[in-house]
Amino acid sequence: MNQEKVIVIDFGGQYNQLVARRVRECNVYCEIYSYKTDIEQIKAMNPKGIILTGGPNSCYEEGAPTYTKELFELGIPVLGLCYGAQLMMHVLGGKVEKAPVREYGKTETFVDKSSALFGDVSENTIVWMSHFDYISQVAGGFKIIAHTADCPVAAAENKDKNLYAIQFHPEVLHTQEGTKMLFNFVRNVCGCSGTWKMDAFVENTIKEIREKVGDGKVLLALSGGVDSSVAAGLLSRAIGKQLTCVFVDHGLLRKNEGDEVESVFGPNGQFDLNFIRVNAQDRYYEKLAGVTEPEKKRKIIGEEFIRVFEEEAKKIGAVDFLAQGTIYPDVVESGLGGESAVIKSHHNVGGLPDYVDFKEIIEPLRDLFKDEVRKAGLELGIPEHLVFRQPFPGPGLGIRIIGEVTAEKVRIVQDADAIYREEIAKAGLDRSIGQYFAALTNMRSVGVMGDERTYDYAVALRAVNTIDFMTAESAEIPFSVLQTVMSRIINEVRGVNRVFYDLTSKPPGTIEFE
Ligand code: XMP
Repeated sequence: MNQEKVIVIDFGGQYNQLVARRVRECNVYCEIYSYKTDIEQIKAMNPKGIILTGGPNSCYEEGAPTYTKELFELGIPVLGLCYGAQLMMHVLGGKVEKAPVREYGKTETFVDKSSALFGDVSENTIVWMSHFDYISQVAGGFKIIAHTADCPVAAAENKDKNLYAIQFHPEVLHTQEGTKMLFNFVRNVCGCSGTWKMDAFVENTIKEIREKVGDGKVLLALSGGVDSSVAAGLLSRAIGKQLTCVFVDHGLLRKNEGDEVESVFGPNGQFDLNFIRVNAQDRYYEKLAGVTEPEKKRKIIGEEFIRVFEEEAKKIGAVDFLAQGTIYPDVVESGLGGESAVIKSHHNVGGLPDYVDFKEIIEPLRDLFKDEVRKAGLELGIPEHLVFRQPFPGPGLGIRIIGEVTAEKVRIVQDADAIYREEIAKAGLDRSIGQYFAALTNMRSVGVMGDERTYDYAVALRAVNTIDFMTAESAEIPFSVLQTVMSRIINEVRGVNRVFYDLTSKPPGTIEFE
């Protein structure tokens, strides 16, 4: 897409995707590239600005990630953050060394309001610091524009060359006026006009899809999750019935989920497309009978999906495009973009399915962060309950039922989970908790109901808050809400006589149970 762009050069810090997200919140399009990206490539992208991220290294040590001095001589504004700030000084002749006092956490900072970065920022403002090195001497031509009690150079600028260095992390929400600072850089210093908006994205992408697809046929595996739903919405608006969506109901979805997906994308829904729902519940239950080992269950569920999808694809015949709901973090995390997380390969990227006869892949959401995907979904008129749906694992309830999966256990966990979600929504907590669900333990215990002894299952409730799903804390839910959920589950869900709330954080626990 031809538009104004800011480039984030990734030095391996943990907040790098956040930097790009915040820039996009300023309506400026932004992409992440590794510090290993050649300067010629950066120049060819013709960015309006460049941001250097934080990173775990010391820039003065041998072998530390660096960048050629030429970057600062392109006439393109550069903002260095934390490691990026230190590197800018180091490369341009300033001095960086181990700080006498390591700064970590929220820190009061005094800023020079005459700087373009801080014009509308309070004179003393709280910022997030996390560094053991510091800039002890700025490079020639630089002026100090912020300091803290322990850090003489919390920010510096070379106004003539449009170079800015910030020791703290404006991208982190703990920096109270961080978004203003990033806005000031990308909109005022770089002069971006702020054209990155989701309505424009939707409109442009629809045009691009039409041009690319022509009168070709497109096949999409629709899971009902946010990404594939928004991809389906976009493609449908662009090419209507040239799109076929295959939705596999594997019997491991949440209660009524299959019907909800069908009501939006099926023949009575609001989108023009071919919708194929495959009710494969019995096939899955048969395959899963007697299987208790988590990894084996996952494998069976994954393989069965491929088989079902393959059968449907064969019925449809050759297509021109296979669409996927890949989003930008998938691309970055697969090591195709940034530097920080090459550890994780993503199922949506790379391993193209070879069981479908298609010519090309189409990924209309490849440039979007999750919150942007949601905004695009709303633009397309996809209902809020789908757009704000919480993450749901591919293997579905199969990994929320400990031990063997049976139709009866699926019913129990679906009913308990539906009650839990209903009560969380009633309490107004549904948008503030990262992920929450009910799981079925494989434990049965003795209880008493009326005058009768029971020997039934225990349901576990899980609710976590997380930023990146790599770590998570259990969420604080008011005890009265938990009590209501417990009492409703025991009264309304046959086969359950005990309810637990899982307090475990991740690590050592995982979010899911298997
Ligand atoms: P864990 O359990 O690993 O979960 O702490 C982290 C996040 O990933 C989701 N998850 C999965 N998503 N296929 C998926 O598509 C899977 O096999 C899978 N396992 C876990 C989980 O719901 C959480 O959001």
